[in-house]
Amino acid sequence: MKSASAVTRLFVCTAQKDEVGKDVAKALKTELKKQGLKTLLTGGTTRKVRVQTCNCLDLCKHCKKGPGAAVAIYPDNVFYGDVKPKDASDIVREHLGDGRVIKRLLLDG
Ligand code: FES
Repeated sequence: MKSASAVTRLFVCTAQKDEVGKDVAKALKTELKKQGLKTLLTGGTTRKVRVQTCNCLDLCKHCKKGPGAAVAIYPDNVFYGDVKPKDASDIVREHLGDGRVIKRLLLDG
């Protein structure tokens, strides 16, 4: 049986009025390329990283806390809120590269 390939997916909500999510998704893609992390090597397994925009993650009450976008990362089960394009380099370096959750961006439930 063919095994499903390992993929880490970043879903970025683009339902904000100013569509900041589109800029966040663009910045994440740029950083993945710049930092050479479009493919991750974790525990001997390679994982592809995909950034996808989506209509709404239904985390709007969190988005209203600030002008950024919500970002969900699967299969990590991590939800970031109020993410701005300038946060993309930290998400790629710290979360994807180093495997560390970025506490300042975490949604609080
Ligand atoms: S507007 Fe959709 S999750 Fe924030």
